[in-house]
Amino acid sequence: MLTKLDDTASTLSRRLRTPTPAVAIVGATGAVGVELLQCLERRNFPLSRLRLLASARSAGRTLPFAGREIAVEELGEASFEGIDLALFSAGSGISRQYADAAVRAGAIVVDNSSAFRMHADVPLVVPEVNGAALASHSGIIANPNCVAAIATVALAPLHRAHPIRRLNIATYQSASGAGAAAMEELRESTAAYLRGESYRPRILPHPYAFNFFSHNAEMDQESGYNGEELKVIAETRRILGADELPVGVTCIRVPVLRAHGMAITATFDEAVTPEKARGLLADAPGLKLVDDRGANRFPMPSEASGQDDVLVGRIRKDLGDPSGRSIALFVVGDQLLKGAALNAVQIAEALLVR
Ligand SMILES: NC(=O)c1ccc[n+]([C@@H]2O[C@H](COP(=O)([O-])OP(=O)(O)OC[C@H]3O[C@@H](n4cnc5c(N)ncnc54)[C@H](OP(=O)(O)O)[C@@H]3O)[C@@H](O)[C@H]2O)c1
Repeated sequence: MLTKLDDTASTLSRRLRTPTPAVAIVGATGAVGVELLQCLERRNFPLSRLRLLASARSAGRTLPFAGREIAVEELGEASFEGIDLALFSAGSGISRQYADAAVRAGAIVVDNSSAFRMHADVPLVVPEVNGAALASHSGIIANPNCVAAIATVALAPLHRAHPIRRLNIATYQSASGAGAAAMEELRESTAAYLRGESYRPRILPHPYAFNFFSHNAEMDQESGYNGEELKVIAETRRILGADELPVGVTCIRVPVLRAHGMAITATFDEAVTPEKARGLLADAPGLKLVDDRGANRFPMPSEASGQDDVLVGRIRKDLGDPSGRSIALFVVGDQLLKGAALNAVQIAEALLVR
């Protein structure tokens, strides 16, 4: 990928070409797209123009932005004329099809899909963790998988102080991670369940109300890991700059509308006390400690939803490792925000001409 762009890559600006960029959102009507609009507005992103793009199904619909209604247009090759920043969130197929057109038109692309995340010339960025990677790109910047983004916000402060030698992650992932239609399926199937009616799932593979199941991403038959788990492994390594880090992961879809939880055990190269870990996490950007043993109060999706900060708590010694080198923690983050829209807008902010 990007071989077609190699000629132009050297002339591309690493930052946006104007302090007040014209912005396009591809997939503006989706679960992430709507949050992108809200993040841009809430954070007063200095845009000069906003173009909302989606499929032909949504053309003509309007979405609210900064007190006015903006019409959604059908995405096409010519959609990026005059656009400086294109925020893509319409799936990897659309990104593969249209990202080059946006770059050719002079835009910088921040892509929420998995299309380019492992490409060597595409930085995979969580600004608090590896923002320096933005110094080198060829027009496309990848926003990480939601679990990898949220986990690394909590892991990076620990990893900087004491290199992590092994990770184990078990996730509790919400419906919104599978898009707006999956949220609707959770609402509808729960209502049907409570009415005592049967419900045939359309979006997710199994009954969702009062149930949970192995993540719906495609299963790799040989390894027994699904696509989500393989992304978490590869992307966590890449963001932390630890290519060989052993990572074990189990991803589970739970019947929660919004915010992903993850139980993480990190093993360090030396003994680390829970107090030391808590101190490192308390002062870290993008994190909020919720770690009240007395009240048995720890991170919850209900409190993480709508919050920019990732919540971290249940910080304790892993009793499964008598060496004292392992710490267990529980992390919950709004994956539509830090796992997608907010992180993308933070990347865009870092690209602004100062
Ligand atoms: N949800 C998350 O937590 C999350 C986190 C990280 C990354 N992501 C990634 O972000 C992307 C969007 O996810 P989502 O959850 O927002 O999905 P979604 O709710 O299903 O939204 C999909 C969006 O893509 C648009 N779209 C679909 N087909 C299109 C086409 N042919 N042409 C133009 N637009 C088209 C849809 O427009 P219509 O409304 O017109 O169909 C809609 O705006 C995916 O790549 C996903 O992997 C999602």
